[in-house]
Formats: sequence, C-alpha cells, structure tokens
Amino acid sequence: MAPNYVMMMVVVVVNLMIFFSLCFGATVNMVVKAGCSESCGNISVPFPFGMTQDCSLHRQFLVTCNYSFQPAPKLFLGNSTIEITKISLTGQLSVLRLFSRDCYRDGIRTNSNSPWLTLSSLLSVNYTANKFIAVGCDTYAIVRGHYRRHNSNISESYVTGCMSMCNSMDDGDNNLCSGVGCCKTSIPEGAWSANITLSSYNNYTYVTDNNTSCSYAFVVEEATFNFSKNYLSRLHNKKKLPIVLDWSIGKETCEVAKRNSTAYACKSNNSDCHDNSIGYRCSCMQGYDGNPYLEDGCQDTDECIDRKEDYRCAKDAICTNTEGNYTCTCPPDFTGDGTECHRDNPQRKIHNNVVTAVTVGVALLVIIICSWAYTGFQRKKILMMKKKFFKENGGLVLQQRLTGEEGNRIKIFTAEELEMATNDFDKDRVVGQGGFGTVYKGYLKDNRIVAIKKSKVIDRNQIEQFINEVIVLSQINHRNVVKLLGCCLETEVPLLVYEFINNGTLSEQLHDKVKASTFSLDIRLRVAAETAGVLSYLHSAAYPPIIHRDIKSVNILMDKSYTAKVSDFGASRLVPADQTEISTLVQGTLGYLDPEYLQTNQLTEKSDVYSFGVVLVELLTGRKALCFERPEKERSLAQYFISSVEKDNLFDILDDNIVCDERNRVQLKNVAKLAQRCLHVKGDARPTMKEVAAELEAELRLKQSWAQTDQNSEEVESLLQGTESLELGYKYSEHSINIDSIANHINLTLPGAR
Ligand SMILES: *[C@@H]1O[C@H](CO)[C@@H](O)[C@H](O)[C@H]1NC(C)=O
Ligand SMILES: *[C@@H]1O[C@H](CO)[C@@H](O)[C@H](O)[C@H]1NC(C)=O
Ligand SMILES: *[C@@H]1O[C@H](CO)[C@@H](O)[C@H](O)[C@H]1NC(C)=O
Ligand SMILES: *[C@@H]1O[C@H](CO)[C@@H](O)[C@H](O)[C@H]1NC(C)=O
Ligand SMILES: *[C@@H]1O[C@H](CO)[C@@H](O)[C@H](O)[C@H]1NC(C)=O
Ligand SMILES: *[C@@H]1O[C@H](CO)[C@@H](O)[C@H](O)[C@H]1NC(C)=O
Ligand SMILES: *[C@@H]1O[C@H](CO)[C@@H](O)[C@H](O)[C@H]1NC(C)=O
Ligand SMILES: *[C@@H]1O[C@H](CO)[C@@H](O)[C@H](O)[C@H]1NC(C)=O
Ligand SMILES: *[C@@H]1O[C@H](CO)[C@@H](O)[C@H](O)[C@H]1NC(C)=O
Ligand SMILES: *[C@@H]1O[C@H](CO)[C@@H](O)[C@H](O)[C@H]1NC(C)=O
Ligand SMILES: *[C@@H]1O[C@H](CO)[C@@H](O)[C@H](O)[C@H]1NC(C)=O
Ligand SMILES: *[C@@H]1O[C@H](CO)[C@@H](O)[C@H](O)[C@H]1NC(C)=O
Repeated sequence: MAPNYVMMMVVVVVNLMIFFSLCFGATVNMVVKAGCSESCGNISVPFPFGMTQDCSLHRQFLVTCNYSFQPAPKLFLGNSTIEITKISLTGQLSVLRLFSRDCYRDGIRTNSNSPWLTLSSLLSVNYTANKFIAVGCDTYAIVRGHYRRHNSNISESYVTGCMSMCNSMDDGDNNLCSGVGCCKTSIPEGAWSANITLSSYNNYTYVTDNNTSCSYAFVVEEATFNFSKNYLSRLHNKKKLPIVLDWSIGKETCEVAKRNSTAYACKSNNSDCHDNSIGYRCSCMQGYDGNPYLEDGCQDTDECIDRKEDYRCAKDAICTNTEGNYTCTCPPDFTGDGTECHRDNPQRKIHNNVVTAVTVGVALLVIIICSWAYTGFQRKKILMMKKKFFKENGGLVLQQRLTGEEGNRIKIFTAEELEMATNDFDKDRVVGQGGFGTVYKGYLKDNRIVAIKKSKVIDRNQIEQFINEVIVLSQINHRNVVKLLGCCLETEVPLLVYEFINNGTLSEQLHDKVKASTFSLDIRLRVAAETAGVLSYLHSAAYPPIIHRDIKSVNILMDKSYTAKVSDFGASRLVPADQTEISTLVQGTLGYLDPEYLQTNQLTEKSDVYSFGVVLVELLTGRKALCFERPEKERSLAQYFISSVEKDNLFDILDDNIVCDERNRVQLKNVAKLAQRCLHVKGDARPTMKEVAAELEAELRLKQSWAQTDQNSEEVESLLQGTESLELGYKYSEHSINIDSIANHINLTLPGAR
C-alpha cells in the first residue's frame, strides 16, 4: 500500500470516529431515562430526578424547569421556590434561598422578611458544608427547626443561634466571620427544617449611614460566603444565597433496602449502596462511572485515559483497560511489575538491537502518520471516540452512506433547529408513539412541516434500527415511500426528519367508521397498487434488494389525495447480492407475519408478499388483521378470509362500504383471488410482488377505462390478461407512526401452521 493511501485511510477513520461520537457519543454514559430531558438550561437533571412523573423516580424527585426566566431557564424543586443550581449524583443538591432580614429606621420596622425552609423526607441540610450565619451590629439570630437523628426515623427539634455586635461600621474583619459584625454556628446534622427569628439586643438603637439598622441571618454554603463590612448595610442587594442539601434515594438502610429488590434503587450492575444520615444512596463501583440508578447506568471507565491520582502504572508501562479495572505491564526489554519498570541489562539490549531498530523505525513512521492525521484533535479524545466507535460498529456503514453519492439528499440538522421546530419536543407535538420511540410534528424555519422521529436510546437494537432506517431510506427514491429529509447527529437520541404526511394511516382510514365510508373501492385499489408498486420496487429494482419486514396498514400513511406512503423501515433488511434468503430473528407484527418465516426463520421476499396479502384483505374487508374480540375462527383475518373464499362466501365478508354491482363482482373476485395467492402457506407458491403490482395496476386501469366507456365483463377479463405494469402519477408527502411489538400478543393459530 502506498503511504499516501495509508494516510488517507487514517484520516478517513479519524473523521468517522468523530462523526460517530457526535452521533452516538452520549449513549455511552446515560444519566437520564430514555426520552427524558437531560437538562434545564445548563443544569443537568440526572435520574432519579426528572421533570415529569415518568422521568423521575417518584414525586420527591420531581423538578420544574421554568423557561420564563431570562437569559437561562431556572430549575426548581417540585413546585417549591427552592431554586436548584446543581444536582450531583454523589448525593448533593446545590440550591439558592432567600435570607432573613429585619430593618428598622427610627425605631420603626421598614423591611422584614423571614422565609423558612422545610425539606421533604429524603432531603436534609448538609452538615459539613453549611453554617448558620448572622450579620449585623446589634443582632441576635435564632434558628429553630427539626432534624433526624442518624439512622433513625424520629425527628427531634433543635434551637440554636448566635449574636453579632459591633461598635462601628468599621469594626469587623473583611473576609472573616469573626463574631464582630458577623457570627456563625453549626446547625445539627440531619436538619430538615429551619425557621429564623431576628431580634435586636439594644432596641435597634444602632444605625448605619441612612439612619437604618439592619440584621440578616441565613443558612449558607460556608465556602461561598465571604464576609465583607459592606454587608452590614447592603447585604440585601444580594438576592439569594447558596445552600448544599443532601438527598437520599430511600429512607431505609442499605441492608433493609436490599431485601426488597423491586424497590431497591441501585438498579445498575456494578453499583454500590451507602448508608447516610437519611437512609441510603447508590454509587457506581470503583472502576465504573455513570448513573447507578439506571439499569446499565454504570459503565466501565477507561482508567488508562482518565488517569486519576491513584493511577498506578509506571511511566514506561503499558496500561490495558479491563472491565472494572486496568492492568499495567512493562514493555519488552523492561522488567518490573508494571508499577515500576526497569530497563533490562545492556547486553541483551545489544542482542536485540536490530529488532529494536526496526521496531523503532516502524513506530516512528506510525507516529508521524498519526500525528499528522491527529492535527487539531486531542489525542485523548480520539482514543475515547475510537473505543465508542468500535462498540457501535454500525455507524461506519451509516457514515459511508451519508457521505457517499447519496449524501446530498440527506440534510444534517442541528439540535437547536429541531428543538425550535418541535418547541423543545413539546408533548403537544407528539403525533405517534410506539416501540421505536416518539414522532413529533415540527415546523422548520422555512415553513416546511416535518415529522421528527426520536428513537429510544436505551436499547442497542434501537440504534441499529435507526442506522438501518437511514441506510435503507437513503437508498430508496420512490414517490410512494416516506421521504427522509435528514437526521440530527448532535443529540444523544438519534433523530430522523421526514416530510409530514397529513392524513393519518391506512389503518385509521379503514377502521374509522366515518373515514371508511368515504374510502371507495377505486381508492382502495389504488392504495393497494401503489403499495404493491413500492414493494415490487424494493424487491427487484432496488440494489441490493430490500425486504421491508413490517408491512401493515399502520405503516402505510395517507396524504390528502389518498396517496399511499410506505413508512417505517426500522426492521427492513438489505439482502446481500448473492443470497435470496437470510436467516434472522423473527420480527414483524402478528396478524401480518408470514407463517413460513415464523417456522423456518428464513426471511425471503415472499414474507412481504404475505404481509401485503393481509393488507389487501384488510382493504377488501375493512376488518383488522388480528382481532381478539371476534369468535376464535375469525380472529386471524388471513385465516378467516381464506376459509370464507374457499366456502364461496367472499361477498359476505366484504366491507359494507364497498358497493357491489355486476361489474365489481368480477373484479372483486379477481382481487380476492390475488390476495388468496399472496396468503398461500408456501412462500414459493405466492406470486412475486412484481406480478402482484402488475395485476393490481391492470385492475386499476380497467376501472379507469370504465369511467370512459361502458364495456361488458367479457372484455374486461380479456383486457386484464394483456396489461403490463404501468406507472401511476400521484403526489406525495408523509409522516410516521407506530409499531406493535410481537411480544405483546397471545398465541394463536396462523394459517399454515397446519
Ligand atoms: C450555567 O451557566 C451560568 C451562566 O451562563 C454559569 O454561571 C453557571 O456556572 C453554569 N452552570 C453550570 C453547571 O455549568
Ligand atoms: C415561571 O416563573 C414565572 C415568573 O416567576 C411564573 O409567573 C410562572 O408561573 C412560572 N411557571 C411555572 C410553570 O412554574
Ligand atoms: C404543588 O402544590 C400544590 C398546592 O400548592 C400541592 O397540592 C401539590 O402537592 C404540589 N406538588 C408537588 C409535586 O409538590
Ligand atoms: C456533605 O457534603 C459533602 C461534600 O460536599 C459530602 O462529602 C458529605 O458526605 C455530605 N454530607 C454530610 C452529612 O456531611
Ligand atoms: C421507623 O418507623 C417504623 C414505623 O414507622 C418502625 O417500625 C421502625 O422501627 C423505625 N425505624 C427506626 C430505625 O427507628
Ligand atoms: C474573600 O474575598 C477577598 C477579596 O474580596 C479575597 O482576597 C479572599 O481570598 C476571599 N476569601 C475567601 C475565603 O474566599
Ligand atoms: C417560625 O417561628 C416563628 C416565631 O417563632 C413562628 O411564629 C412561625 O410560625 C414559625 N414558622 C414555622 C413555619 O415554623
Ligand atoms: C426598648 O424600648 C422599649 C420601648 O420603646 C422599652 O420599653 C424597653 O425598655 C427598651 N429596652 C431596652 C433594652 O432598651
Ligand atoms: C438610604 O435610604 C434611601 C431610601 O430608603 C435609599 O434610596 C438609599 O439608597 C439609602 N442609602 C444607603 C447608602 O443605603
Ligand atoms: C437621620 O436622623 C436624624 C435625626 O432623626 C436626622 O436629623 C437626619 O437627617 C437623618 N439622616 C438621614 C440620612 O435620613
Ligand atoms: C417491595 O417494594 C414494592 C415497591 O415499592 C412494594 O410494592 C412491595 O410491596 C414491596 N415488597 C415487600 C415484600 O416489602
Ligand atoms: C484492580 O487491580 C489491582 C491489581 O490487580 C487490585 O489491587 C485492585 O484491588 C483492583 N481494583 C478493583 C476495584 O478491583
């Protein structure tokens, strides 16, 4: 390989790593539940805290993000006025509180305020970080409240306080709360309420420059409070002061909590439990990092990259990351245990001279190439990205596709663009929800309406489906397929942006009484022909061929002119060029699932033919593919349809909204026969999608010709045979809705499980 080529490869790989880490980086160290907002402004909100009932562990961990504050939104505890500035997973909460003040002028109270603090049962004032402080020249301050004794659920009350005096405003030391002008004391460990009372010792006779006398008192994070003599007259210019609170996940001790594994909050593997003054809290074990309250929240840290103070490998040693730990080994030519490495004696070194020279030469070359390629990027970052990159190897393929020939078709949106478009993923904008994630309606700046699909991240499969869908859709350019406009790579949750389709799904169209009544046979046939056309295209015109795998009426969207738009390619498979069938885990939706595929796990194009057959029957009968409310023999639509046709009862099960006249009867019979063939137990006996599409299009053409001339039914039949596939001209748009998990359904007999 020419060196130039090597360099190019290195550059490409490095770029891919960066791309990939942008796309999926945050999935590695998740701190929130899937689909939950991760922050309020720049304040991170890790689970168990959350902004909605579903996102938080329970009510005590609810926080409210109020966006009406400028420039940044503010976060509050529950619906209280306690403003949060930082949530730490090590069990602390930094909050801001108003302080008490009491001002007099000429012996008359002019300005007084005494906010009190009451915390919920899982919170307490941190004993080591906070102090009770009073400021004033004639002040005594008393704080009363309650505290929990260590490891007990009994609350006791406390009262304490201090007195601050001074002779003049120049008394006291700046930066030192010494008792002159400022006094401080501790409040008991486990305190969960505080009520401050301020009084004067000498009847408010001491006045400052404005004939005013003020006293202040507050509980405050000691490290942030730096006393200044100015405060004696002007502290009230400050609005709020910081306090550090401790939070616990439960009131029990670790020992008690572990007994009930459903309630035990340390959900992640590799997590530890710690007792504290309120109850217990969780942490990730040494060597792991992340959120112990989420399943799989604790992830292995790469100690070789994040070298902590206790990093024990010697300078020359080779560090290798292991699960939960790391090892140090001395390089060849060195002896030692890795924490110390010594060069071997010189004789052996000379002996190995040639090898060393070659090794060094190669190493130098590699270093030169690498440092050239790494320009502009921190080596450390790249290493970390590389790790993630390989973990999620599907991204390579995605990137190749996106930057390949078809790259320009797909726009890469920024996170802000999509946040603006969806009003920060407002609940009101949700238009669909399912196993894959959530679909939001969004308005882009250029007034385009889009559907934004936000996948769930927690599951690896979802990431694969996301990649899959991008790859598949980037290859398809068909007017009856939902158009992928772009994706967003900056968020931890992969986002796909589609054109918005405004008329719901085929399923809604068929199963909503009002909508179904205006859904004529002509339109139904057209929808069927269009869908068949798409599948035929996917199976034979696309390269490599694509099997959709989840054809169902819910995945066929309708625009205003009832043009069909096939959506949801999350489960689709590209068929390798030299194979006609692939072995996969069975995936799909009951009611539509090919019984042969279900039994053999061999996925072929004929599985889509079967699913399409079910959709066709749905179009004819207006019944649901699977309906547990019906008598047992009618539950599976496919099975019921076949038995009805075999008994010549076709016209009894047709949708009432389909008007049957003499001409229709022949046509309906033809379509029913076609559906019957699609639903054949043996995949080989089913027609190809190409044949299906051609037949349906012929039927459609026939209908159209009826509109012009009045022909009799013999001519119709002969016309039918001679018709080739034809193109249909309709307009499009789209959006995406829902998927049913196969796991949600009950056993049932399917046609063909004979
Ligand atoms: C959030 O931003 C504000 C100002 O923009 C800054 O003062 C504060 O330190 C930031 N907080 C965090 C947790 O980054
Ligand atoms: C947000 O704060 C504003 C101003 O303080 C207040 O009027 C509003 O009610 C708050 N909104 C919520 C949802 O708490
Ligand atoms: C919010 O406040 C109302 C009354 O002001 C109270 O009933 C409710 O429980 C509070 N909700 C939370 C989560 O604290
Ligand atoms: C208080 O906060 C510190 C860290 O700021 C923490 O180490 C300590 O455990 C907390 N709790 C108590 C009761 O001191
Ligand atoms: C906490 O209270 C419960 C009843 O409310 C009692 O059974 C339990 O013994 C108490 N625990 C401690 C440590 O006092
Ligand atoms: C308090 O502030 C002064 C400057 O205003 C600074 O010199 C001093 O170091 C500060 N003290 C602390 C404890 O932060
Ligand atoms: C706080 O203390 C004052 C005076 O002792 C009392 O009147 C007030 O009710 C107390 N407030 C609370 C919430 O305990
Ligand atoms: C404070 O003033 C009140 C009346 O204004 C008086 O009765 C009282 O004795 C004074 N107390 C002191 C300590 O000066
Ligand atoms: C004195 O009081 C007046 C009115 O209350 C206020 O506007 C002014 O800022 C005060 N001056 C000082 C130095 O506190
Ligand atoms: C303070 O009070 C004295 C006497 O009551 C008065 O003469 C003086 O003007 C006052 N000063 C201010 C700044 O209000
Ligand atoms: C365990 O915790 C769950 C959830 O809090 C609760 O429903 C269940 O009753 C508890 N089981 C026992 C044995 O305490
Ligand atoms: C990591 O490995 C070292 C050396 O093998 C051992 O001393 C240490 O206890 C291990 N640490 C953890 C957290 O397992």
